[in-house]
Amino acid sequence: MDDLAALKHATEAALAAASDLRAWDAVRVGVLGKNGSLTGLLKALGQVPAEQRRERGAAVNRLRDELADLVEARRAALEAAALEARLAAERADVTLPPPAIPAGSIHPISRTIEEMTAIFGAMGFTVGEGPDIETDWHNFSALNIPGHHPARADHDTFYLPGTRDGRPLVLRTHTSNVQIITLLTQEPPFRVIAPGRTYRADHDATHSPMFHQCEGIVVDRDITLAHLKGCLVDFLRAYFAQPDLKVRFRASYFPFTEPSMEVDIGWNRRTGEIGAGGDWLEILGSGMVHPRVLANCGLDPREWQGFAFGMGVERVAMLKHGIADLRPFYESDLRWLRHYGFSALAPAMLHEGL
Ligand code: PHE
Repeated sequence: MDDLAALKHATEAALAAASDLRAWDAVRVGVLGKNGSLTGLLKALGQVPAEQRRERGAAVNRLRDELADLVEARRAALEAAALEARLAAERADVTLPPPAIPAGSIHPISRTIEEMTAIFGAMGFTVGEGPDIETDWHNFSALNIPGHHPARADHDTFYLPGTRDGRPLVLRTHTSNVQIITLLTQEPPFRVIAPGRTYRADHDATHSPMFHQCEGIVVDRDITLAHLKGCLVDFLRAYFAQPDLKVRFRASYFPFTEPSMEVDIGWNRRTGEIGAGGDWLEILGSGMVHPRVLANCGLDPREWQGFAFGMGVERVAMLKHGIADLRPFYESDLRWLRHYGFSALAPAMLHEGL
């Protein structure tokens, strides 16, 4: 091997051994620098005999180009490796790790309200709202329940200190205040449901001082009892997922509807099974909106009619899912929530025949 091939070989080995840019620079200076080995060969060309100088000069210049290329290639490789190492060292994982166990579930009350909203939504209802703290006018008087009316005493009302617009305040005893709010704020015709919290001073296995109702009100021209019946039969059959569920309307009394009807569904008293057996179970209150309620809200009862209904959310949830006791609904007991809670991804079990 001649001296040029030997220098190329040695430079390749030294570059391969240089593991960082500092070592690389030392190799570069040692070969191509002012006192480097290749520079020495160039300087020595003057001593080469004249007849060999041309050939030797061309060979040394070729070697200089080759070495410059090798040095440059090694620099690029070392810089790329340094960048890779830095990116790896500074890597940040911006994703959240998956939860170890699926935690959290939808509470049966939320789930039931979602199902009611879906069913009534398909019938063209929108969702209305009213305050939990309400005036006794919205909760009672406007609904045709005057101060001396026995229904006021039946409601076990929580009265609150203070007034709004000069009217005493209560925790609403039913969602029927939303009938009044809707009649006062929306132009008929409308169809509105209003799920929400209600309060009565009563507490045992079947009563909670706070519970949920879902109100409904429809107002239009020429609304009749037939609309009420069709709407509620369709709802109950969809909610209980039984297309032929037996439904019965029974004359009743509410101050804010005339006529009024309680609605029963078929069930088996012994097994609790909905739709089977020869027994009847009361499930909601309903009736044609009382003309005085319409008039209290500035509507002419000769032009507008409507129907309204109200039902207990916990009650229909308990019946559909076989939950025996009301109290655990509010106790946040994880065992109960895991058992009765719903997966956010589970499809609702509804009869789709609307
Ligand atoms: N507000 C009544 C209750 O709490 C239910 C109801 C609502 C009845 C609408 C008729 C019409 O029992």
